[in-house]
Amino acid sequence: DFGKNDDFWLFGYGSLIWKPPPHYDQRIPGYIQGYVRRFWQASEDHRGTPEAPGRVVTLIDRAHWDTLTDHHASPIKTWGAAYHIPREKVSEVREYLDIREINGYSIQFTPFHPAISSTTPSSPSPSPSPSPINCLVYIGLPSNPQFLGPQDPQQLAAHIIKSKGPSGENREYLYLLEEGLKGLSVESGDEHVADLVRRARDIERLEEQGQKKEEDK
Ligand code: BEZ
Repeated sequence: DFGKNDDFWLFGYGSLIWKPPPHYDQRIPGYIQGYVRRFWQASEDHRGTPEAPGRVVTLIDRAHWDTLTDHHASPIKTWGAAYHIPREKVSEVREYLDIREINGYSIQFTPFHPAISSTTPSSPSPSPSPSPINCLVYIGLPSNPQFLGPQDPQQLAAHIIKSKGPSGENREYLYLLEEGLKGLSVESGDEHVADLVRRARDIERLEEQGQKKEEDK
């Protein structure tokens, strides 16, 4: 049963999509509304270092959409996965996330809409929409020190390609995010993420061609 008041649900829209929190007992694909996902957060602890921060995603809420310089469809759905944490593990998981993930993020609660599973031949009528679940979400607000604000997409892709940190290469985060999003639903793409992946792949192709030219010399 989703969303009883004392239940703890966590919404993941970044690394949590492919790297679940410890001790969850349910994972549900779905979306939240009123936010736009952008690679506008500096990562000093996972995909970069304090000297050379990488770039990871945060959510921009409606109050700050006037800062968006790129196109975004409206009304927007931000797809991700909600995790249910069993009651006896809530404090352990919150502590884990605060220590491991909260570099520059703030906590908000927002309604999460579970994806409606498709109909099957044995039950041809669509099932009623499940009720929204109140979910905790970590958001890099403009007031957080790691928040960067608008990034030129081409420079952003180039920055992601050259960055790495203790969790691995920044490009791996971008590619895992795109893959993870594709796996959530038929409509769970994100144009900002897809655009960055195209730019990053183009940069990699150019680099490979450059290396090959050097080798052929
Ligand atoms: C996420 O995957 O949704 C996430 C993880 C850590 C901090 C912020 C967001």
